[in-house]
Amino acid sequence: MRLQFLQLLLAALGSTACTSEPAGIPFYIISNGETPSLGRPGLTPIGKQRAESCIPAIFSGLNIGLIITCTVDRDGEEGLNCAAANETAVPLATALGINISTCATGDGADDDCPNNTLQNFRKNSNQSVLFVWDSTDMEDLIENVDTDAGLDNDQLALHPDLIVTVNPNDLENAGLTSMNCTGIDGTA
Ligand SMILES: *[C@@H]1O[C@H](CO)[C@@H](O)[C@H](O)[C@H]1NC(C)=O
Ligand SMILES: *[C@@H]1O[C@H](CO)[C@@H](O)[C@H](O)[C@H]1NC(C)=O
Ligand SMILES: *[C@@H]1O[C@H](CO)[C@@H](O)[C@H](O)[C@H]1NC(C)=O
Ligand SMILES: *[C@@H]1O[C@H](CO)[C@@H](O)[C@H](O)[C@H]1NC(C)=O
Ligand SMILES: *[C@@H]1O[C@H](CO)[C@@H](O)[C@H](O)[C@H]1NC(C)=O
Repeated sequence: MRLQFLQLLLAALGSTACTSEPAGIPFYIISNGETPSLGRPGLTPIGKQRAESCIPAIFSGLNIGLIITCTVDRDGEEGLNCAAANETAVPLATALGINISTCATGDGADDDCPNNTLQNFRKNSNQSVLFVWDSTDMEDLIENVDTDAGLDNDQLALHPDLIVTVNPNDLENAGLTSMNCTGIDGTA
């Protein structure tokens, strides 16, 4: 099941790549998994399942060398889902044995951090980067990495199964696909 899914994903990425500019090494953006209501911390059982089994199954096949997540701002006003984003990222980072870098959010944050961290990593590596970001702060991230690409931020905030795939040679045409996690994504 998982393998079939991965083949579909790779096929999807491959086919979007050859319709336009030559494919550079892509980077990916996902949001935190499902969170409980009323600002309670952590992930819901579904979010945990997504983080612990589905995300590692998908992204282990995509040659990820670095994960970048966010931290809540000093005033505790923005980046409120960053802890959940980190929790979403940790099982994959552990499975791959890679580091998680962070960028701050909110007033006084270095707006260039996501792009700079991405570019600095890519200087010395041919591996891909995965952003795991606060679902309520996607707009800022997407601006920072320069790929607004007509992406619907409300959709990204609403659906934690979405994967944005960005070809750095074609920032205007980000691809969008679902994780299709078994039992939790798509229609019942
Ligand atoms: C997820 O499922 C949808 C609907 O069946 C399909 O269009 C899409 O290609 C699938 N995504 C991946 C990554 O396989
Ligand atoms: C992410 O979660 C791990 C495991 O709980 C923790 O050790 C780490 O400090 C967290 N990182 C951030 C930036 O919150
Ligand atoms: C993780 O970060 C530490 C500290 O910067 C570094 O020494 C280590 O090589 C990094 N590990 C990987 C797998 O990149
Ligand atoms: C990245 O790939 C290019 C082309 O294959 C190669 O020349 C370069 O050494 C690679 N860089 C790293 C850091 O592996
Ligand atoms: C990201 O960094 C690259 C390389 O430094 C730069 O060319 C590009 O303009 C930056 N993008 C944004 C949105 O700042």
